[in-house]
Amino acid sequence: PASVIVAIDGPAGTGKSSTSKAVAAKLGLGYLDTGAQYRAITWWMLTNGIDVDDVTAVADASAKPVIVSGTDPAAPTITVDGLDAAGPIRSQEVTAAVSAVSAVPEVRALITDLQRSIAAEAPHGIVVEGRDIGITVLPDADLKVFLTASPEARAARRNGELKGKEAVDLAATREALIKRDAADSSRKTSPLAKADDAVEVDTTDLTLDQVIECVVTLIEGVS
Ligand code: C5P
Repeated sequence: PASVIVAIDGPAGTGKSSTSKAVAAKLGLGYLDTGAQYRAITWWMLTNGIDVDDVTAVADASAKPVIVSGTDPAAPTITVDGLDAAGPIRSQEVTAAVSAVSAVPEVRALITDLQRSIAAEAPHGIVVEGRDIGITVLPDADLKVFLTASPEARAARRNGELKGKEAVDLAATREALIKRDAADSSRKTSPLAKADDAVEVDTTDLTLDQVIECVVTLIEGVS
């Protein structure tokens, strides 16, 4: 097709963002980081004093923040009420709270609508990465990829990203990742899961370049 829709799902630290950005840039597609949107709404809840464990309070406030995502893979952006959220959404505080906020059905309904309209408006197609893209957000995607990796590999990658920004400890990162995946996989609404028609790629022993090449080849196979 002239325009290709690619869904990339998987747990934290499997290389979804790095892979999706590089593939989109290579093929001239847009790029959407849906985790950044859930982080952005979580950041807004935290800065506005909403108790993230109070499901009713989160649901009631969910429509208030205005979240805007820029889809250029060379410079993805995210703003909340016009404020640049790219830095604050990566804090450990947001990371620890995001699974609770993203489990609230009202939050998911709003963000899912936003994701679908962004994908529909992408002129040359788009790579959308997240947890529920292939099953819930874009079930008709031209290609669905599910990335996996061992917990050790995922923790090591995540630590590499955080280094220099915050004090990091490999065992703590591993525990936090496992806890977040368990929460994301067990929630009622749109849990993290592989679509039946997704291609699973285990990235444990692959370099980033190898994963990128693999996904590019898969996209060429459907377009
Ligand atoms: O990808 P990232 O680690 O930034 O995602 C942050 C969190 O956002 C996930 O742990 C999950 O709770 C939530 N998320 C989600 N559905 C998506 C993408 C992310 O629930 N499609």
